[in-house]
Amino acid sequence: MLSKKVEKALNGQIRIEAESSQVYLSMASWAEVKGLEGISQFMYKHSDEERMHMLKLIKFVNERGGHATISDLKAPKTDFGTFQKMFQELYDHEIFVSKSINDLVHVTLEEKDYATHNFLQWYVAEQIEEEALARTILDKINLIGNDKGGLYLFDRDVQQITVESAASDTTE
Ligand SMILES: [Fe+2]
Ligand SMILES: [Fe+2]
Repeated sequence: MLSKKVEKALNGQIRIEAESSQVYLSMASWAEVKGLEGISQFMYKHSDEERMHMLKLIKFVNERGGHATISDLKAPKTDFGTFQKMFQELYDHEIFVSKSINDLVHVTLEEKDYATHNFLQWYVAEQIEEEALARTILDKINLIGNDKGGLYLFDRDVQQITVESAASDTTE
């Protein structure tokens, strides 16, 4: 059984995952309109992943005797300027999400809720991977600079940049 405090904190995270999904969906649409096909596909996929993170939390809250509540969301922006700035925003957003997960883990320790603490370890690991992925992409973008051919290749290859390849990059 979840304490009210843990339930409220988990519902807060459900909202953040839902908002993350909306932010990346808006990025996907912006990139698609700009003709950045690969980047757009990457963002659509990322948006789906955030929705999956949200659903996993909803199921957990309800299974543990709580009530996962669906709230209205802050509308994401619709214009991201340049794809470089957009990926910087993605990185900053993932850092924000990691902080939120950490705060949530802290609440479970205060409440001595070790079942939820254990459940959240998946999210802790996921955030490490997502931050690594975003950093890998920013490194690649820095290498390209303003080279048009580089951008073409980046747009083509970004779909292949997965969490796994980012993890192996950092061990090179
Ligand atoms: Fe997430
Ligand atoms: Fe994420």
